[in-house]
Parts: sequence; C-alpha cells; structure tokens
Amino acid sequence: MNTVMKVQKVLIIGAGFVGSSLAASLQSSGVQVCCTRRQEGEEGTVQKGEEGTVQNVEEGTVQNVEEGTVQKGEEGTVQFVLENEETWRNLPMEVDGVVWTLPAKPLSQVQRLHDAYLHSILDEKKPVIVYGSTSRYHVDEAHQWVDEKTKKTQKEDSREEGEDFLQEKGATVLVLAGIWGESKNGQSRHPKSWFEKGYIKNFNKFLNLAHVDDIIKVTEEVMRRHSETRGQAINVCDGNPMLWRDIIVGPLSCVHRLYDTYLRSILDSKKQVIVYGTTGRYHVEEEHQWVDEKTKYKQTESGREEGEDFLQEKGASVLVLVGIWGESNSGQLRSPKSWIEKGYHINSINKYLNLAHVDDIVKATEEVLNRPEFIGQAINVCDGNPMLWRDITLGFGLELPATTQDPNATAPTSRLLSRPSKRVSNGLLQSIMGKDYKFKTVVDPDTTGA
Ligand SMILES: NC(=O)c1ccc[n+]([C@@H]2O[C@H](COP(=O)([O-])OP(=O)(O)OC[C@H]3O[C@@H](n4cnc5c(N)ncnc54)[C@H](OP(=O)(O)O)[C@@H]3O)[C@@H](O)[C@H]2O)c1
Repeated sequence: MNTVMKVQKVLIIGAGFVGSSLAASLQSSGVQVCCTRRQEGEEGTVQKGEEGTVQNVEEGTVQNVEEGTVQKGEEGTVQFVLENEETWRNLPMEVDGVVWTLPAKPLSQVQRLHDAYLHSILDEKKPVIVYGSTSRYHVDEAHQWVDEKTKKTQKEDSREEGEDFLQEKGATVLVLAGIWGESKNGQSRHPKSWFEKGYIKNFNKFLNLAHVDDIIKVTEEVMRRHSETRGQAINVCDGNPMLWRDIIVGPLSCVHRLYDTYLRSILDSKKQVIVYGTTGRYHVEEEHQWVDEKTKYKQTESGREEGEDFLQEKGASVLVLVGIWGESNSGQLRSPKSWIEKGYHINSINKYLNLAHVDDIVKATEEVLNRPEFIGQAINVCDGNPMLWRDITLGFGLELPATTQDPNATAPTSRLLSRPSKRVSNGLLQSIMGKDYKFKTVVDPDTTGA
C-alpha cells in the first residue's frame, strides 16, 4: 500500500549546500525544521541544549528529555559533530523524519549515533534519508552505465559502509550525482566554473549531475512516500550523463569550428570527406525491425547525429557503422567470441547483433573515397547478415547461459538493452562493393540452424 506521510518536524543533519536549501523548502511548506552545523555560531543561532533538559550522552545513549520540555534549538540550528558525542544531546527528540546529509562515516560513529538516537526514529518507521554518492559504484569499464543494482566498491572505512548499515536499519539512501545549482546558503555550483577553475583534467569522462532543486524535490517525495521507499537506495541524477568535452564546447559547436577552420575548403573543392557514424542513430519502433539508410532517425544522447547531418549537408559521406570486429593494425583484436566469453551476451541473447569486419570497413572507405557519386550520402556499412546473439553463441560451439535458456527471455538492464533490437540492411553498400565484401558473417549460419 502506498501510504503518503505528512511530516511536521524534520531534522536535517548538516545544513550545507543541499541541507540549507532543503530546510528553506520544507519551511516554506509549513514544516518545522531543525538543522545542525559543526561550528557553534553567533549567540542565538547555534544553540546547545539547555543544561538539565537533555542529559549527558552515556554509553552511547541520548537520554531523558523530560516530558514537556522542548530543547532549545529544536527550531533553528543546533551544533552537532558526528565525532563529538557531547554535541549529540543537542538533537531534538521528537521528529517525524531525519535527513542525513553528511558522509556516513566512520562506521563506528554511525553505529553509535544509530544506537543512541536514530534507532527510535527508525523503529517507529519514520523516514530517515541518507545522502550517498555515486562514487559507491564499482565500475569495470569506461563509460559503463550503473544503476542501483551495480556492485559497490568495498573500501574500508568508506561512507558506503555507513550507508549500508543505515539502509539495513530502514533508512532510504539517495545516491547523489554531482550537485549543481544555487543553494539557499548563498553558494552556487556550476560545471562551467569547475572547468574555469581548472578542476577538470580529463575531458573524455562523463559527468553525472543532479540539480539541488531536484534533490530537494526527490527528498520531499521520498519522505512523503516513505512506506514505499523504506530501506531502498535510489540514484538521484538527471539521467543524462555528458562528456566533459561536450559540456564545454557543445558537441555541434566543435564540429562547426573544425568545419570553419579546416574542412570547408576540402568540401568546397568537391573532395571526399568521409565521416564514420553509427547505426545507434536509427529510430527502431519494433523488435527486430530492418533498417536502411531511409529509416527515420533521431538524436541519441551523444548528439553525434547533428554533427554527421551537418557535415553530410556540406558534402561529406557518412558511413554508418555497426559493431566492428576483426584485428586492427594497431594490434587490437575485437572478437564476438570473446565478447560472449566476457558475458556481453547474457542480457542480449534474443537480440540481433549487426557486424562489420574492420577490413571491410577499410575497403568500403577506399571505394567511397574514389566514387564521387556518393558525395553527400549516408551508407550503412555492415555484413547485411544480422544474427541473434543466441545463434552466434551456438555457432561458436559455446554454451548458452543458464539464465537465458528461455528463447523469449530478454532482461533489459540498461537503457541500451531496453531499446528494440534491429537488423541493418546493406543493400546500398552491396551495390557499391558487390562481391568484394569479404566477411559476410561472423559464424557459418549452417552450423547454427539460423
Ligand atoms: N558535491 C557533490 O557534487 C556531491 C556529489 C555526490 C554526493 N555528495 C554528498 O551529498 C551530501 C550533500 O552534499 P552537500 O554539497 O550539501 O554537502 P556540504 O555542503 O558539504 O554539506 C555537508 C553538511 O554536513 C555537515 N558535516 C560534515 N561533516 C560533518 C561531521 N563530521 N559532523 C557533523 N556534521 C558534518 C557540514 O557541516 P558544516 O555546515 O558545519 O560544515 C554540512 O552542513 C554530502 O554527503 C556529499 O558528500 C556530494
């Protein structure tokens, strides 16, 4: 049942960039808020519990708020330092929810604060929301997508240990991406200024972002729908990771600049410029749909199609490539068999794989370079013989993974896999290359029954 909870009093542990904005937002909707800061501020802003109202922290327990006594600072800001248990007495006893914004470490202190203070709130099934960070995810490959099920890094004394501990006790962990926006504490965070300050060393990395206003909205929503979100971890990000280089110059403006400074003179003199694109551009509506150069396409998240279109309009030929395999002169080997051995097929088993051998891409490129009639055209470069991962696996004499014995099973775990599978036709390329296309299939279809 989705019970919606109305909170009246909220404790925000840590009134930093997000905490202070959350406090302002909750207060504006009539919620009573108590925030914490580490430093004791000017008189009257950060308050300690009055002597005699909240007792000493003994053996890790915050004790005895006398009935009817309200600790000073319950509304407003109190001093709290995770490592200084003396300050824990300042935390208000009666709250409907807690938002924990500081890193949940060290684990020993998190556990002690849980035993002393948070457990009663969690035991009453009130929301405790803990902010985590996407750095928790263990990433094996560059540019890998991660979600809440991705395995976590196992670092000792990391915040993840504290987050896991609290999550097991019923807290909801909001796993935050890079935070930007304007905070109510007067600070502003903007990716542009991170770049200007020289923080960015590698422009080929993805930046994942969450705007502070969205973090606040999610926090309030999770608090309201606490019965559904209790004990869960939820990624909070805009879901639109971008490469730093694209954020800084904009993908298209880069292409424009290169065109203006260099490519224009080559294209204007009707010389061939070939641009490699990808079949990710095709908009596929039905599972296993055939696509050709006339299939409508839309911009992917990379936005590269805009650049390809722009150059094509200026006279470049776009070779639209599928999965590339073979041995490159750079010494790299890409083999569908090894992709299967690495488990890439596990969720794709009933999806089509479209392939082009590097040698054929080279031949197609040379052919198009010498054929001015293809100036300004897009041409699919593929073997025209898409095969199901299942058939390729069997074709190599490899075992199908146990979890995918069901021929109808598709378990999309990423956005890429949740897209319908497509089959790419190479009719136009055949008319250009004819029999010269060498690698017509990665495995012999006769051995697979395909
Ligand atoms: N910055 C990012 O892009 C990013 C990305 C992902 C996740 N996160 C995480 O998201 C959370 C919220 O981010 P934010 O930018 O709002 O953080 P922030 O501005 O640094 O605020 C953190 C708050 O926690 C308090 N705090 C820190 N250590 C403490 C301790 N040992 N004991 C008591 N209080 C302590 C700070 O107190 P004072 O006010 O006294 O300093 C501050 O109020 C943080 O846990 C952060 O690590 C940040």
